[in-house]
Parts: sequence; C-alpha cells; structure tokens
Amino acid sequence: MAKIFSGIQPTGIITLGNYLGALKQFVELQKDHETLFCIVDQHAITLPQNPTELRKAIRSLAAIYIAAGLDPNQSVLFVQSDVPAHAQLGWILQCIANLGELERMTQFKDKARGKESVPAGLLTYPPLMAADILLYNTEIVPVGEDQKQHIELTRDLAERFNKKYREIFTIPEAKIPKTGARIKSLQDPTKKMSKSDTNSKATIRILDDEQTIIKKIKSAVTDSEGIVRYDEEHKPGISNLLAIYSLISGKSIPELEKAYIGKGYGDFKHDVALTVAKHLQPLQTKYHTLVQSKELDEILEAGAKKANAIANKTLRKVENAMGMGFRRQ
Ligand code: TYM
Repeated sequence: MAKIFSGIQPTGIITLGNYLGALKQFVELQKDHETLFCIVDQHAITLPQNPTELRKAIRSLAAIYIAAGLDPNQSVLFVQSDVPAHAQLGWILQCIANLGELERMTQFKDKARGKESVPAGLLTYPPLMAADILLYNTEIVPVGEDQKQHIELTRDLAERFNKKYREIFTIPEAKIPKTGARIKSLQDPTKKMSKSDTNSKATIRILDDEQTIIKKIKSAVTDSEGIVRYDEEHKPGISNLLAIYSLISGKSIPELEKAYIGKGYGDFKHDVALTVAKHLQPLQTKYHTLVQSKELDEILEAGAKKANAIANKTLRKVENAMGMGFRRQ
C-alpha cells in the first residue's frame, strides 16, 4: 500500500477549491492507501494570525476533515505542532536548501510582493513542507496545482540529502487531479479561488449555507456568449462552473454541455448552486456536532501519538546519518 501524506493550512474556513483540489481526493485515497493528513498550523503562522482565531480554525479544519469523510480508523489525522519532529527536520532541510531556490518559489514571490517587512518563515516555508512529507516515507502527495513547485523542491532536497549522507528519504510524487486542480475565483476566473481573498463573493466556503451559495454563484462573473460550453481560454467563468458542477455531480463536462443546449446561464447557475449546496449539506450537519465534541480531541491526540512514533524514527535516522548528537553509533 502506497503511503500518502498531505496537509491544509488552518487559516479561515476552507474553500470549495481546497475541497475539490485536495480534501475530496484525500477521502477517495484513504480506502486503499496508508494515509496521514495534517492540519499544518506551523505553516499558518508564516503570516500573522490572531491566536483565538487560529485555535478555532484548527478545530474547525479537523472537524471538516472528518465530516467530509476522513475516517480516523483509516487515516492518521493530527495537528503539525503536536509533532515536534516537523520543525526539527524542517530546520535540517533549511540547512540543505539554498537561498536562491527558496527565493525562486512563486508562492514566496506572490506572498512577499509589496510587503515592507517579510517574515523569514515565508521564505523557509518549503523546507518545512518538505519535512512534513519526508518524515513519513511518503510516496504520493495529493495536492492542487499551486503546490506542484513545492513538491518538486521536496524531491530535490530529498535527493540531495540521500546522495550526500545515506538513502533515507523516499522520493515523493505529487498527485494533482485532472479536473479541479485549480478552481478559480468566482469574481475573477483568471485567478485561483483562495482562502485569503478579501472579496467574500469570490469564494465558496465549505460551511456556506444554501442561500449564500446561490447568491455567490448567481453573481459569478461569466461572459456574454450565452452558451454553456467549456473553453478555459475564452470562457474561464463558465468553464470554472462546469468543472465544479462536473466534480460534484460526477457527470462529465460534455454530458453537462449537452444538457444545457438551448438553456441560459440563469438556469445553469441555479443548478450548479443547488448541486453544490446539496452536496455540502450532510458534511455541514456532521461538522456542527463534531466541532465542539470531546471525540475530536481524542481523535487528534491519538493521531499525534501515531504520527510522533513514525516521525521520530525518521528524524533519528537523519540525525545519526549527519553525525548530530553525542552517542557513539
Ligand atoms: P493550502 O492550505 O493553501 O491548500 C490546501 C490544499 O488545497 C489546494 N488548493 C486548491 N486546489 C484547487 N483549486 C484551488 N483554488 C485551490 N486552492 C488551494 C492546495 O493545492 C492544497 O493541496 N503548503 C500547503 C499545505 C502543506 C502541505 C504540506 C501540503 C503544508 N505541508 C505537505 C501537502 C504536503 C498549502 O498551503 O496548502
């Protein structure tokens, strides 16, 4: 069984992009793989966070993981800061990485742009992400397209380490969905749908109610052609809605295009919105009973225990290979 690891940042309520690009894949993969899914709070603090809001977002994301279908009996679910080996291996990988390759990361450039003072953690974020992945002998990392470059860097760092010291790290591969790898903003469909978008109409949050979803999808930016057909270049708005609809309904895009021949955008948007809302409803109901439960604490504590056991073994091997510590081997 291939080993799978992935994580999501607990910064606000996750979007339909996070769900379709990542979480939905996690749920499908847990059936026939060995899976670990993390709530990466150490990544979240690379930008300033309100402490009360951060703790709330961590519990929320954990409850969303489970409500979406991640089963703690099949997957290890845990919070990153509960496993100190992440930060420890992250430091070691920072010492293996070069400044130039970190500065070339597009997410770093995007997030640092225009800031007067850039937290150093924004730059050293990819080696921490590499540590997350490499601690668990991960073979496959399910992510959306925006994380591809970070996984490539992870592979480079792992290969560099293995060559210099000892073959310890498994070289992981990214698993990016064919459709849904980059769900777009509803207000600017040339940009990705992002948790941090300040325009609330641009994103669907996984806990939005039916009326809110209808309102947001009805006001989604489209085009004036009036024909429901997939064309990412000329019709990014309609193409984005078709991708969302297809992923949630399980119907293919050509099948959907056919069903809307002769119908307008109004009907189409209404159906997309209702399908999304109906799909999310059971998740939302489960979420509300879980989020304040003791069961959630127990799941995360058990997950941290399992993750610590695996991660500490890898860390020990790495430190030994590098000559760290005083004990004779
Ligand atoms: P984050 O928290 O920004 O996003 C979580 C996951 O959601 C995917 N995603 C999208 N997919 C499709 N369309 C979108 N609009 C969209 N927006 C986000 C992301 O690609 C990601 O898979 N660095 C990571 C978290 C992380 C991680 C890891 C992931 C930390 N360590 C180790 C994998 C393995 C991040 O910030 O994701």
